[in-house]
Amino acid sequence: MIEQTIDGYAGRSLLGYGHEGIDSITVLHKVLELIPPRGRFLEIGSYDGVTSGWLARRRPNVTFVCVDPYRNDVPYPDRQDPHDHAVNWMKNCGKLPNAILVVCRTDELMQLGGLGWFDVILVDGDHRHKPSKFDLKLSIDLLADDGIILLDDLIKGKGGVEHSVNEVMATERWNLTPVAGSVSMMKKI
Ligand SMILES: C[S@@+](CC[C@H](N)C(=O)[O-])C[C@H]1O[C@@H](n2cnc3c(N)ncnc32)[C@H](O)[C@@H]1O
Repeated sequence: MIEQTIDGYAGRSLLGYGHEGIDSITVLHKVLELIPPRGRFLEIGSYDGVTSGWLARRRPNVTFVCVDPYRNDVPYPDRQDPHDHAVNWMKNCGKLPNAILVVCRTDELMQLGGLGWFDVILVDGDHRHKPSKFDLKLSIDLLADDGIILLDDLIKGKGGVEHSVNEVMATERWNLTPVAGSVSMMKKI
């Protein structure tokens, strides 16, 4: 059984979830290695905030901006009330000085303006083709020079993420490499 709960955290980390033979904590350690000691991290689709909370504690000089609408107009990985996930985010990240929650969908994000650039962007929101392509293009626009994009659920032959990545890679030059479980990394060539 794949372990997603992490001691001391409310809810689950879904990073790498669904990929056989690897648990979330192993995936988190691999992702942590890719985050520089200082900079800015964007998580698209924060869910319970376990992933960002766990990483933010280990990278106190990195600002973690988490985006999730916590609304029923986006697909959810479970039937729980979105409000419960927002409460979990507060329990996991609310007291961290380097974590910020922006409650909106990604297509509403740019209305806020002044987001700046990010050194690491984790794309893990709506996995359908059109929204995941929107998130990927937004991430490319928000990526700092030499930044990296992490994609969850880029599973061959399944879902919209693979479709979106293939379309972007057909017109732009990116290196795509596996990280751990269902997490992959894109870096501009
Ligand atoms: C698979 S979960 C994210 C898991 C989380 N990254 C983790 O590591 O545990 C997907 C999340 O994306 C959010 N989501 C769906 N559509 C979104 C959108 N358009 N903009 C931002 N977040 C979205 C959902 O509310 C849900 O919490």
